[in-house]
Amino acid sequence: MINIALLGFGVVGSGTAEVLTENKALIEARLGCEYNIKYILDLRDFPNSPFCDRIVHDFNTILNDPEVSVVAEMMGGSHPAYDFTKACLEAGKSVVTSNKEVVSTFGVELCAIAKAHGVRYLFEASVGGGIPVIRPMINDLSSNKINKISGILNGTTNFILTSMRDADASFDAALKEAQRLGYAEANPSADVDGIDAARKIVILAALASGKLLDPKSISTTGITKITLEDSKLAQSFNCSIKLIGYAETMGDKLLAFVSPRLVPMSNPLSRIDGVFNGILVDANMVGEVMFYGPGAGKLPTASAVVADIIDVIANRDADVKPLVWESATDADLADMGEYSCRRMFVFNTMDGVPMLRGAQVKECGGVFGVMTDEMTEKEVEKITSACGNKLVSVYRVL
Ligand code: HSE
Repeated sequence: MINIALLGFGVVGSGTAEVLTENKALIEARLGCEYNIKYILDLRDFPNSPFCDRIVHDFNTILNDPEVSVVAEMMGGSHPAYDFTKACLEAGKSVVTSNKEVVSTFGVELCAIAKAHGVRYLFEASVGGGIPVIRPMINDLSSNKINKISGILNGTTNFILTSMRDADASFDAALKEAQRLGYAEANPSADVDGIDAARKIVILAALASGKLLDPKSISTTGITKITLEDSKLAQSFNCSIKLIGYAETMGDKLLAFVSPRLVPMSNPLSRIDGVFNGILVDANMVGEVMFYGPGAGKLPTASAVVADIIDVIANRDADVKPLVWESATDADLADMGEYSCRRMFVFNTMDGVPMLRGAQVKECGGVFGVMTDEMTEKEVEKITSACGNKLVSVYRVL
């Protein structure tokens, strides 16, 4: 009998208990062994839950129980989630998690601790919700050098941008609906300001390069300044605006950033709508592969958490090669100023706007969208300072 403890009984935690219970017979048959949810740690009591008899409030009950060998951390936030994870790994318990904040901030250390104690630290649910992407990147793409990763990595913002594009919904109404559906983070700033996507892209970039960037250090722009006019201008250029986490290996350097981008209809990411996520990986042997599916939500995310629990149990006697990451240093970073792509500039007047290379102009609701040829970030900065307050915004094109 394998005893499992769940840390957190919110959306993902309760979903994980549901998946482990609903599919218990099927999972046990596949594993060839039985399991039991022994404890669920939460501050609250859940008197009406079928799991109310497993609820505990003291983490030490779990830590000090030698029968518990697998712990699923779904608390969210850095603390105490990181502290509990570290303590469990040091106590010889494997930990699986959906917590991208902890993986992206403490992943180097936690992977090293897991390795030192001969246990596993797995985080399939930390990126892309229910989409299998972490394990395929580690295993199935391991013969490849990863060139680029472009991803719609946040379900909440994709849901909002889709509602703005297709239903002229206001930002606030779409955000409220995403929260009601259980997609959003407790603090929606993490979603709408791109912080959640930044955490996820540094995790994917680390899988590609072995170097974990500090998510706070990468250029991150969210979706709060996108207007309905911008969305319509994008459509008039046959594009959709999507919040894109982007990472590229440039020689031995690494570049990663998050920003809203115009995605041309010829790119499959343009057609990923609602809460769905899509991750396009450009690898040097296989070419382009795309991972697609529900990027947030209770049961999809729980499905990925349980996949990791199954991996831990199935391989409990195997000698699995541990993941080893290093922290990225300044020397690992590519110069963002050299990054080049097409742009859409949005101006509130065209009077006195300099001619831009290859420009096509469209108008919507009194603002002008100007689509240009490729230019570097450095060139964009020069244009931005030359145009003053005539320039409302600039979008990168994917
Ligand atoms: N708030 C996140 C999202 C949850 O909307 O994608 C899944 O990580």
